[in-house]
Amino acid sequence: MTGIRVVAVMSPLPSNFSPPDPQMSVEASFIIGDRVLPSRYSLAPLAGYTHLAFRRALRELGGLGLATTDLVHATQLVCGHRHSLELIETHPEDRPLSIQIFSGRDDHLVEAARWLEAHDYQGVDINMGCPMAKVNGQGGGARLLCDADNASRLVEKIVSAVRIPVTVKMRLGWDRESLASPMLARRFEAAGVAAITIHGRTRQQGFQGGVDLEGIRATVEAVEKIPVIGNGDVRTIEDAERMRQVTGCSAIAIGRGAMLDPWLFRKLADVAAGIAPREPSADEQVEFLVRHFTLMSEQHGERSCILFRKFAAWYGARLGVPEDLEHRLRQFESRTEFDSIIHEIRNRHGERRTPIATALVRVPNGPVERW
Ligand SMILES: Cc1cc2nc3c(=O)[nH]c(=O)nc-3n(C[C@H](O)[C@H](O)[C@H](O)COP(=O)(O)O)c2cc1C
Repeated sequence: MTGIRVVAVMSPLPSNFSPPDPQMSVEASFIIGDRVLPSRYSLAPLAGYTHLAFRRALRELGGLGLATTDLVHATQLVCGHRHSLELIETHPEDRPLSIQIFSGRDDHLVEAARWLEAHDYQGVDINMGCPMAKVNGQGGGARLLCDADNASRLVEKIVSAVRIPVTVKMRLGWDRESLASPMLARRFEAAGVAAITIHGRTRQQGFQGGVDLEGIRATVEAVEKIPVIGNGDVRTIEDAERMRQVTGCSAIAIGRGAMLDPWLFRKLADVAAGIAPREPSADEQVEFLVRHFTLMSEQHGERSCILFRKFAAWYGARLGVPEDLEHRLRQFESRTEFDSIIHEIRNRHGERRTPIATALVRVPNGPVERW
């Protein structure tokens, strides 16, 4: 990536600030609150996909900065709901990490943020982008974009309740007629958020249409100091370059592109370091599959056999494995069976040619009002 190689200090330095490792490329690092992130490329949450095992496997490939968990229901988190506790499970190697919370209730969000701080989490992200009816119906997710006073008050309450950096992930607005993100970003900055991630679509769009880079740019230009992280449709080095150049954003969050190409972060780090981006070998790709499942087993034991099945189509396409092997990957019941499938995959990958993009993360379809 071209550009002036300076550390972009986006917010006042905290008293306990220590400068980044001089070995680290200054172009590559950036700061959110008191957190120095090793890369400008972060993992956007994809509920159901960006779980602990995937994050760890991805981090081992290199180049990934901040990762954010799937959205976690604030109320259920503080009540100790098993699923929510599972979503926030982490590991010393799973750093830097932010936990994303959602709710239509201010008090529950504040309580959840306090709880996270008390349990040593380093960052909390508020979801203001989720388009799903069950979240919006309770006043959470993208619904918060519809009432700037309410959303700003909420942000203020959370920021004043904790010392860890509070960030917001939002969309451009509810629909084309209400593109509120520049105004909201300004107000959230005044309320004390440490960074904003902006997905360049409205709630009305869902995942349809191209991402609006000008809309992201307007949001970037609206804030004074805090970093704005651009998000949406970044799947290649060129997409990332365009996102940075057109929008002027400080950093980029990548969601589906990380599923399409887990090596994208490493490639972006290569470019930042001035070397040719390395493509993974076929062996490396199989190793990633094995590592993903192994890490999942560490967390979930035998249940991981069932949990891993949803990745069968994706790995099948990625590795070009024949239908029968993909089918077995969708049905295996033990580690022994998994190992035997891997043995076959090592011998037979590349036999089938399926465009990886067809196995990309599914998004809801149909009218967004019915999601
Ligand atoms: C299956 C799926 C699950 C998602 N889950 C979340 C979520 O939990 N929290 C959130 O803020 N955004 C979520 N998103 C939105 C993504 O983080 C991101 O904003 C969007 O996919 C656009 O970026 P991308 O093109 O890089 O994927 C989800 C998107 C998808 C497709």
